[in-house]
Amino acid sequence: MNFSPSLLESLRAATKIVALTGAGISAESGMATFREAQTGLWSKFRPEELATAEAFRRERKFVQDWYTWRRQNAVNAKPNAGHLALVEIEKRAPEFLLVTQNVDGLHQRAGSKQLVELHGNIHRFRCFENDCASDNFDVENGRCRSCGGHLRPGVVWFGEMLPIDALETAISAAEQCDVFFSIGTSSVVYPAADLWRRAKDSGSVIIEINKDPTPLTPLADYSFLGNAGEILPQLVAAI
Ligand code: OAD
Repeated sequence: MNFSPSLLESLRAATKIVALTGAGISAESGMATFREAQTGLWSKFRPEELATAEAFRRERKFVQDWYTWRRQNAVNAKPNAGHLALVEIEKRAPEFLLVTQNVDGLHQRAGSKQLVELHGNIHRFRCFENDCASDNFDVENGRCRSCGGHLRPGVVWFGEMLPIDALETAISAAEQCDVFFSIGTSSVVYPAADLWRRAKDSGSVIIEINKDPTPLTPLADYSFLGNAGEILPQLVAAI
């Protein structure tokens, strides 16, 4: 793949790089995306049926089983070449932040260090009824030992606020970076979908790598339509 000299120069000169990732970065690890026809998780179930507090209250076992299935998929999956290329970019950049919407933990397993999770992590748990701070959980039986409440997955559900620390860190990094990557995300879920605009408004170069066109595609400085696990390693090799 040929990369333009101006793109490579921007990357070599960048002191602050931010990469936003979505479900597409994990697709080549065998994880389902959310919105793609046929394979997307949401094509089989309506999100409001499963990823809400109301659903957990109404059909706790069904929701828990679905998360157990997704958690197991994540455990069985391995980080792919796209995850690993981002680790390499982090090592080379003077300052780097990975902002992920994914909850699968694959970036951490690949070796990414500077990372914020905007939508939580499926491998963590929270006390549903009282949000007990103690983390004294009986995961096997799905109970909080402090109050006896039920355990819910440590992810952000529809209608819930994003973790404020993670969001503020992501916004601040986006507003200060020289290069902003948007990788494997449909760029339709806010506030993550707004981060590239903040970066752009602050003068940063926007690079999108995504299999299909998104609302960002016509506005990005550089846009690559294809698999992140193929394009990212080639880009790293070219820098
Ligand atoms: P989506 O499923 O909306 O989008 C995934 C994007 O990845 C699509 O645009 C695909 O074209 C692209 N894609 C698929 N395979 C790829 C590959 N190998 N390389 C590059 N791109 C690829 O997933 P997200 O944008 O992550 O939120 O969705 C954002 C949020 O919506 C999720 O975090 C989730 C969901 O509601 C919550 O659960 C809170």
